[in-house]
Amino acid sequence: MWVKEKLAGYAAMAADYLRDRFGRRLREAGTPDSLTAPMEYSLLAGGKRLRPALCLAFAEMHGTSPKTVLPFAAAFELIHTYSLIHDDLPAMDDDDLRRGRPSCHKAYGEAQAILAGDALLTEAFGVMAETAPAVPEKAVLAALAEAAFAAGSAGMVGGQMLDMDYTGRDGVTLAQVAAMQAKKTGALIRAACVCGAVLAQAAPEDVDRAARYGAALGAAFQIADDILDVTGDEKTLGKPVGSDQAMGKNTFPSLAGLDKSREMALAEAEAAVAAVSGHDGEAARFLRELARYVVTRAA
Ligand code: IPE
Ligand code: IPE
Ligand code: MG
Ligand code: MG
Ligand code: MG
Repeated sequence: MWVKEKLAGYAAMAADYLRDRFGRRLREAGTPDSLTAPMEYSLLAGGKRLRPALCLAFAEMHGTSPKTVLPFAAAFELIHTYSLIHDDLPAMDDDDLRRGRPSCHKAYGEAQAILAGDALLTEAFGVMAETAPAVPEKAVLAALAEAAFAAGSAGMVGGQMLDMDYTGRDGVTLAQVAAMQAKKTGALIRAACVCGAVLAQAAPEDVDRAARYGAALGAAFQIADDILDVTGDEKTLGKPVGSDQAMGKNTFPSLAGLDKSREMALAEAEAAVAAVSGHDGEAARFLRELARYVVTRAA
C-alpha cells in the first residue's frame, strides 16, 4: 500500500534522527545514564511516527525539503512520547503495555518514568530551535510558539486534564468528548501540520489549510483510537485493549456506539482530504491517502 510505504519512509527519517542525532545530543550534554535509559526505552520502541511525518509532508508540499525541517519534525515525537509515558502512569490510565513492551514505569519505576517524560518534553524545544538557521529564525520562532501552545495547558495537557475530569462521570456529552479530544490529541497533530507549513514559509491561507487538515485528522485519529480500544488486537496495537471501558472513560464508542463512531471518523477523514484537495504532488497525495488510512488502520 503506497501510503504505508510513504509513511514508513518519513518515519524512518525521524527514527534515525532520534536514535543518532538526539542520542548524541543527550550523551554529549551529560545526561545521566539512568535518565537516558528510560527516555530511549520509550522513544526508540517504535511507534508510527505520525506527527513527524505530518510535519515533513507539509513542509515538502510547500517546497521545503524534509531534511531541512527534520529536527523540528522529530521533536514532535519527543513531546508525543512524553505524553504516552505519563498517560500510562498509575495515576492516569494505569496501562502496563506500550509500543509492544512494558510501559516505561513498569520497566524503570514511576519516578524514572515521570522524569523521562519531563526531560523529553523539555529537550523537544531545544531540538526545535536547532532548525535555525537552515530555516529563517522568524519562521522557527513562530513554529516554536505554535508547538508550545499545542503541547501546553490549553492544548494536549489541558485535554488530558479534561480526560481525567470526565473519567467515571455520568452525563458527559459527545460534544464535550469531541472538545476534549481536540485538545488531548488534535492539538499536537494540528501543530505538526501547521509547523510544517510555517517552517516552509507557506502563505497564510495555506497555513490555515494545514490547521484545518490537522484538526480533522486529529479528530479522526482519536475516534479510531477509541474504536481500536474496543475492537483491536493487543498484539497488533502493542497496547492493552479494553482499557477505556475498564477505567470508565467517556469515549465516542461508549457514548455513540461503534457504528456511529466509525461514521464520524470517516466524516472527519473526508474533511481532512478536502482541506488539502487543492494541492498537487506526492506529499499532497500522501496527506490525502493518510487521512483515509488512519480511520481504517488496525494499529
Ligand atoms: C497514541 O498515539 C495516543 C493517541 C494520541 C491516540 P499513536 O497511535 O500515534 O501512538 P504511537 O506513536 O504510534 O505509538
Ligand atoms: C491519549 O489518549 C492521548 C495523549 C495525549 C497521550 P489515550 O489514553 O486514548 O491513548 P492510548 O490509547 O493510551 O494510546
Ligand atoms: Mg489517556
Ligand atoms: Mg491511555
Ligand atoms: Mg486510547
